[in-house]
Amino acid sequence: MENRNQIAVFGLGFVGLPLALSFAMRGAKVVGVDIDTRLIQELNQGITHHLEAYQGESIQEILKTQLAFGRFEATADPTAAMEKCNSFIVTVGIPVVDGNGYMGHLESVSKTIAKGLKKGDLVVIRSTVVPGTVRSFIQPILEESGLKAGEDFFLGYASERIAEGKAFDEFENMPTLVSGVNEASAKATEKLLKIVTKAEIVIASSIEVVETSKVLENLSRDINIAMVNEFAKFTKKMGIDIFEVIKVANTHKRVNLLYPGPGVGGYCIPNAFYYLKPRADELGVGLELSAAARAINKGTPNRVAEMAVKNLQVAPKDAKICILGMAMKDYSSDDRMSPALDVIEALQSQDIEVAVYDPAIPAQHPYLADRLEDALQNAHGIIVLAKQDGIDFDKLEYFRGFMSGDKPFIIDTRNIYCKELVEGKGFVFEGL
Ligand SMILES: NC(=O)c1ccc[n+]([C@@H]2O[C@H](COP(=O)([O-])OP(=O)(O)OC[C@H]3O[C@@H](n4cnc5c(N)ncnc54)[C@H](O)[C@@H]3O)[C@@H](O)[C@H]2O)c1
Repeated sequence: MENRNQIAVFGLGFVGLPLALSFAMRGAKVVGVDIDTRLIQELNQGITHHLEAYQGESIQEILKTQLAFGRFEATADPTAAMEKCNSFIVTVGIPVVDGNGYMGHLESVSKTIAKGLKKGDLVVIRSTVVPGTVRSFIQPILEESGLKAGEDFFLGYASERIAEGKAFDEFENMPTLVSGVNEASAKATEKLLKIVTKAEIVIASSIEVVETSKVLENLSRDINIAMVNEFAKFTKKMGIDIFEVIKVANTHKRVNLLYPGPGVGGYCIPNAFYYLKPRADELGVGLELSAAARAINKGTPNRVAEMAVKNLQVAPKDAKICILGMAMKDYSSDDRMSPALDVIEALQSQDIEVAVYDPAIPAQHPYLADRLEDALQNAHGIIVLAKQDGIDFDKLEYFRGFMSGDKPFIIDTRNIYCKELVEGKGFVFEGL
């Protein structure tokens, strides 16, 4: 089988960049292709805002090393990239807009690849997709090249299972599912992935099995989190601590509850329901449980905002609330679909001034303060939404010094604080 170590990775986001570097680190020549020219410029200068590391080396260091070795380069020119390579990995996603998957990016990248596709090339889709997308949507576009999948070029699908922050380790050590339009495509995909993946690679019987499994993996987490977010409402009324209840419940060998939070964010889990729904509608299958779970998780940021409003000692229009951590999960630089965005919107809709401090977020927002002290200044309360390395949550007296009112509040959605300790420092405390 042909040597597959000249690789173009399409999409250099949270998945594509560390994936491209993972191949480069193992000696492959990798070209990263993206349409975002500012991103390309930054990457070629060795700049990335991602928070990933591998064996003690940060992604920034890895990027610089691979650029210097000439094993990785980024480009917005797909034609040049495709001429040099024989394997193409797609990590361009399907964003959900108003509850509908937007296929435009995937369509455009497929058209781009179709233009440069050569006989014998391998195309591997790693994006999370609506089940059926590879065979019914991507394959026909690739075949506009005049080449046939499975005969003239190989076409495989490998679901991406990494969690941001653990990408390098999980590309290597997470069991991975693959399939292809035919056996040769599945085998070629497996061989390519083996450059990086040491864990088991399972070849499934069809692409649809792998596509569906990925969506259900994400949806199962949405449902599990909704369940504990619902349990949290119950334990709160009972006056007991949900985190303690879960900790003791999990001592049961067959129980593994997740922990509640301010909602569910990021690109993966909240989108899963909307990826499954169009196929379920076509097939006439109701998704009552999944829909209810999505609604519970979607409503949780509002619940958090209401807790804050209830604890205000001034009228909302005169109030300022400080949010600490706005990433979609702890220790992340990703604020896409973060529950924080919904909490902020809910507070602002009541004319409350919101100031946010999260040193890991590179995105620009009018309410994002450069300094912790500016976010805290004259605030009547704090909502903790995500842990971050750059925030020392223990400095309660320091926080208090900047704040307004004789009883500011702390709403802790991350189980960082002990109620008695926070109250002892002069705050009103509320957990989930
Ligand atoms: N982020 C995660 O933790 C994660 C985990 C598992 C799976 N996934 C899946 O992986 C895929 C990628 O996710 P992500 O978080 O890296 O997304 P991302 O938005 O960070 O990255 C996608 C990149 O694709 C680029 N792009 C868009 N159209 C393009 C085109 N036509 N040609 C080249 N580049 C183009 C964008 O500019 C962007 O840089 C999605 O399908 C997602 O569901 C993500």
